[in-house]
Amino acid sequence: MNGSPAPTDPLIRVTDLRKVFPAPRGTRAEDVVAVDGVSFELLPDECLAIVGESGSGKTTVARMIVGLETVTDGTVEVLGKDRTAAPRSLAARRARAREVQYVFQDPYSSLNGRQRIGEVIASNLKLHGVGGSGARARAQEILDSVGLPQKFFDRFPKELSGGQRQRVAIARALAADPKVIVLDEAVAALDVSIQAQILNLLADIKAERKVSYLFISHDLAVVNQISDRMIVMENGLVVDQGATAELLANPTHPYTRSLRAAVPGPGWKPVRREKLAS
Ligand SMILES: Nc1ncnc2c1ncn2[C@@H]1O[C@H](COP(=O)(O)OP(=O)(O)OP(=O)(O)O)[C@@H](O)[C@H]1O
Ligand SMILES: [Mg+2]
Repeated sequence: MNGSPAPTDPLIRVTDLRKVFPAPRGTRAEDVVAVDGVSFELLPDECLAIVGESGSGKTTVARMIVGLETVTDGTVEVLGKDRTAAPRSLAARRARAREVQYVFQDPYSSLNGRQRIGEVIASNLKLHGVGGSGARARAQEILDSVGLPQKFFDRFPKELSGGQRQRVAIARALAADPKVIVLDEAVAALDVSIQAQILNLLADIKAERKVSYLFISHDLAVVNQISDRMIVMENGLVVDQGATAELLANPTHPYTRSLRAAVPGPGWKPVRREKLAS
């Protein structure tokens, strides 16, 4: 035994994870229990979705996994290493970022407006060990792999559409060559047709590289399209989980049923307000 993880070992394992945000001092507000004992595993080569209403704790779980939020209780393991404590040094933060990259809902706020697209990718490459003359060629290769040809290299984020910016955010994540990418409502702000393009791109990337996704979304149609398995969160707890296709085809838990019922199906028409009122 050499101690290195087997190909089937979970990439991420969270156990009894809890997060309490203390009430601000000097107020009558109560502590917020955002995550209340969550356990799950992300396996190699899988896309695991976390679904649930707004405020159910999805982002907080993800932020604890990448070390952006401290853990109140429970454990986080990434690639077999204990990652429960938030990284303290720059070197520790970089080591964590090489394991798991995070793509946010709004890439505009997470991209530096004064950095050209090529530099965005090159600087993440450099941070993770690909510097010098090879960096430009590699950055171009990565941009190409997310469907952004050469001409985008010298553009600024503000010159790009929402879909193109999200491609840049995905390219930047790929530059770290991570084992896992957390996609937190990564297609939520996009038009349906652009959403479909980005979902196809994510599927292609997953097929080509050994990368797993933790895909956070409140949109069950999107989750149905991309994920293998899903966990359902409500009020900081996992209330349901299973293979996505099965869970959505035959939801047994009342909360999953109610989530599914909230998704308009084919032929859905908006109900006019006056009808609702009567
Ligand atoms: N920094 C914070 N301080 C205090 N409370 C917080 C903080 N961050 C999140 N919360 C609270 O924790 C709970 C879970 O929030 P979280 O952002 O994880 O939900 P979410 O499922 O990602 O929701 P959404 O779908 O709207 O993104 C909410 O009640 C939220 O108000
Ligand atoms: Mg969120």
